[in-house]
Amino acid sequence: MKNYKVAVIKGDGIGPEVLNEGIKVLNKISELDPEINFDFSFFPWSCEYYLKHGKMMDDNGLDQLKDFDAIYLGAVGFPGVPDHISLWDLLLKIRKGFDQYVNLRPIKLLQGAPCALKNVTKEDIDMLVIRENSEGEYAGAGDWLFKGKAEEVVLQTGVFSRKGTERIIRYAFEIARKEKKTLTSISKGNALNYSMVFWDEVFNEVALEYPDVITYSYLVDAAAMFFIKDPKRFQIVVTSNLFGDILTDLGAAIAGGLGLAAGANINPEKIYPSMFEPVHGSAPDIAGKGIANPLAAIWSVSQMLTYFGKDMWADKVLNAIESILSEGLTVTKDLGGTSTTSEVGDALANKLK
Ligand code: NAD
Ligand code: IPM
Ligand code: MN
Repeated sequence: MKNYKVAVIKGDGIGPEVLNEGIKVLNKISELDPEINFDFSFFPWSCEYYLKHGKMMDDNGLDQLKDFDAIYLGAVGFPGVPDHISLWDLLLKIRKGFDQYVNLRPIKLLQGAPCALKNVTKEDIDMLVIRENSEGEYAGAGDWLFKGKAEEVVLQTGVFSRKGTERIIRYAFEIARKEKKTLTSISKGNALNYSMVFWDEVFNEVALEYPDVITYSYLVDAAAMFFIKDPKRFQIVVTSNLFGDILTDLGAAIAGGLGLAAGANINPEKIYPSMFEPVHGSAPDIAGKGIANPLAAIWSVSQMLTYFGKDMWADKVLNAIESILSEGLTVTKDLGGTSTTSEVGDALANKLK
């Protein structure tokens, strides 16, 4: 029997509400499968924690997390704590500190999910966005000079290292090769005359090693347009940190909404634990009402199961999500229903066999 040690950081707003349902699903799986057990450890790190302790996580927080098999995170950020503090001191600290340089965000229109686009089928929206997750526009390099003075100057520098750029592009090529899919690089070399010209150059270089993979290259503005007008162009997509952030909210919008968008922050070398979380934030506008859609957090559970090599359970969870959506009987308000967060979690867990 394998015992998976999972660190749970529920975080803020709807984070705890949706994670409770993901945990419900994992517990159901361990109930059904004598080979699997999940051992959860809960960490209270959040904005509430910050207001009590003056920090988002313990000073040795990464040390406390480093031996877990995975981290399951809800969402971070709440009014009362500046977003750049809450996110840089917790979520981004983990992504960077654990070198989770691959962010896998499927944009897949499941059967029964509402689609904001006209005349598209399930087959038309089925892509995997591979977002660079450790540097780029999120490197945190910069300065704030003469703060508050008339001559104030702010610098926010993108950092694209050879190692960082090459490894994410190579990772994407490997997936495209394995899955026999096309690979699209999304960049902006016409305006970002250093970073994105470099990105394109590295993409073209690495492509030479993968003659079997069909590639495309789009400027990010055009790519955003094609996400809406012709999403079937995209299969595997690789892009930078900030572009990936923006495009995956857009992707969520065309594939059923943020309540359905999942993400995995992967350290492929497995030196550090990987982290699984919904794409959405803490949604202060609906927090505490019990109406948040837990399916994104539950889809992230499916990604965690894939990461653990439990493909059968990963598929079962995704199929259960699809069946909940197709029936349309137990869905939350964002999907046109009246069910509560925990009713959706119960219905999903009951579908697993
Ligand atoms: P958000 O994703 O929290 O919410 C955007 C909109 O989508 C809101 O109207 C919200 O109600 C809705 N929504 C999101 N998730 C939903 C769900 N599961 N079910 C139903 N509706 C859902 O983005 P925001 O409002 O820009 O940010 C709120 C806070 O979250 C900020 O502090 C932000 O920095 C933070 N944030 C954190 C993460 C993270 O921890 N990974 C991600 C994004 C934003
Ligand atoms: C996401 C979020 C984060 C990001 C924020 C909260 C720092 O928007 O996970 O998409 O931009 O990566
Ligand atoms: Mn985002």
